[in-house]
Amino acid sequence: MTTRYRVEYALKSHRRDQLIEWIKGLLAVPFVLHSQPTAVFEPQRGTTDQMATIAHRRYGEIMRDVEELINDHIAHQQAGTHERSKLKMLVPSVGMFFTPLYLHDAFVYQDNRRFISSRRFVPPSFNDIRLILNTSQVMSLTRGGPIELITFDGDVTLYDDGESLTEDNPVIPRILALMTKGTKIGIVTAAGYTDARRYYERLHGLLDAIYASNLPSTYKQNLIILGGESNYLFKFSEGEPDRLKFVPRKEWLLDDMVAWQDADITELLDVAEIALKDCITTMRLEAQILRKERAVGIIPLPGKKLFREQLEETVLVAQKILEISPVGRRLPFCAFNGGNDVFVDIGDKSWGVRACQHFFACVPTPISAIPIHGRSASVDAAVIPNPDPTSIAGAKTLHVGDQFLSAGANDFKARLACTTAWIANPAETVALLDEMCELDEALSRKIK
Ligand code: IMP
Ligand code: MG
Repeated sequence: MTTRYRVEYALKSHRRDQLIEWIKGLLAVPFVLHSQPTAVFEPQRGTTDQMATIAHRRYGEIMRDVEELINDHIAHQQAGTHERSKLKMLVPSVGMFFTPLYLHDAFVYQDNRRFISSRRFVPPSFNDIRLILNTSQVMSLTRGGPIELITFDGDVTLYDDGESLTEDNPVIPRILALMTKGTKIGIVTAAGYTDARRYYERLHGLLDAIYASNLPSTYKQNLIILGGESNYLFKFSEGEPDRLKFVPRKEWLLDDMVAWQDADITELLDVAEIALKDCITTMRLEAQILRKERAVGIIPLPGKKLFREQLEETVLVAQKILEISPVGRRLPFCAFNGGNDVFVDIGDKSWGVRACQHFFACVPTPISAIPIHGRSASVDAAVIPNPDPTSIAGAKTLHVGDQFLSAGANDFKARLACTTAWIANPAETVALLDEMCELDEALSRKIK
């Protein structure tokens, strides 16, 4: 039992999302009790249809109960006692919620697409629940008034790993449609480059489409790139050859980031580099160190590929060593598995998203750029008040990314700054934006 416990929980806990696993466990009970695997032997459809109706009702009831537990947790958050909520006791790793989640309605929506209740052999899965959570978040954001800022991760979210955002990418018209409504867009990526050309190479399809669009100039400026997690800010600029203008740090750094000392940055990267070198030696990795101004990583030697186990071990070693180092307690950092590389960056995406929220809130919005789909702040969602008027609220911001495991994943930290959607590939990002548009239009029709 000890061995099994260690393998299942102690050693693999970083590869599980506890909230999703817990919901999966709750839904497994009605699945076991009501699924009818033997119905495949029966000629009439009646049993299967009846089973689907019962399962749909029972799954829906559970999702509504979880929704209520989250509302209770939010009430505790607002009273400053979230550590004592019932949900916290049931799922100790659960964090803060920026908005309520419409889990029941989202389940109905996804069940109509994925026919979860009609399955007789495969219970509600991790992916079913991940997608229900995404839909519930989008429902909450659209019902709660206009989303002011959407931040996107780059690799795997907007384009395939290591690829570029080319002109044929279906996400482009969706992002343009959002920008037409006045929504602000941030691309918060780990890819850390100091010059605009490198970002233009990676993102030229989108940047050229914005340039060629008939969006007013003020709307075009609603796109920024926050590179190296939270280290380099570029804003869209029509006059630049690469369509991007570097914004000096003094113009956008948050007060807490100004306190990050150069000596600490060097020290943290030195500690990380030693840890990474040690992994190369210990595991005989066919990899080399890449040291940058604000990051250090390992990349495979030309033509080589690193195994998942090697990448995960390297991340966890670097993470642990940095966590116990004095400098790692003074300075935020992010160690993550990039699919075929491992990087340790200064800062993380919580700082990246917050910097976007602050940057856009400080740029005065011209009257003509006030979102045309604007509604009052709260239609029927209890949006959590914004504690900081100099920043776009977490409840009005959505970060879309693919890396949400608790260790070795760099989108995870964005959860500290805003609401999030966890996608598995660029096609899911497109589907999420379509879902958002569909829900927004349905709501507009209802209001009229
Ligand atoms: P993301 O998914 O958009 O956050 O991009 C992650 C990828 O960017 C990594 O897997 C690396 O291949 C690449 N990358 C390039 N420069 C850096 C850097 O300075 N830090 C971290 N990742 C980098
Ligand atoms: Mg990614």
